[in-house]
Amino acid sequence: SDEWTPVAATGDVSEDQPSVGNVDGAEIAIYKVDGDYFATSNICTHGLARLSDGYLDGFLIECPLHQGLFDIRNGKCAGDPVDVDLASYDVRVVNDTVEVRLR
Ligand code: FES
Repeated sequence: SDEWTPVAATGDVSEDQPSVGNVDGAEIAIYKVDGDYFATSNICTHGLARLSDGYLDGFLIECPLHQGLFDIRNGKCAGDPVDVDLASYDVRVVNDTVEVRLR
């Protein structure tokens, strides 16, 4: 959609572990790295696993099920066995609210 959707309060997003939000019925993961926010689909494209349960290392999220890697900046595959990119979102902060918009 073209609309910005509020998904989280900035204070609720930790640098340690992704937060979960919802946009138009789709579950998304919200990440914070060095003070910047990023958002992708929360569901791995390889199987039914939640990336919010995975391991965030720099700009890479590792899927908890088969350890596939995605770049949280653009949703691109970054390590086997994944081969379909994640949906990714533009992110902005308005006051203390994180808002996202599908790319
Ligand atoms: Fe994520 Fe297989 S389900 S890598």
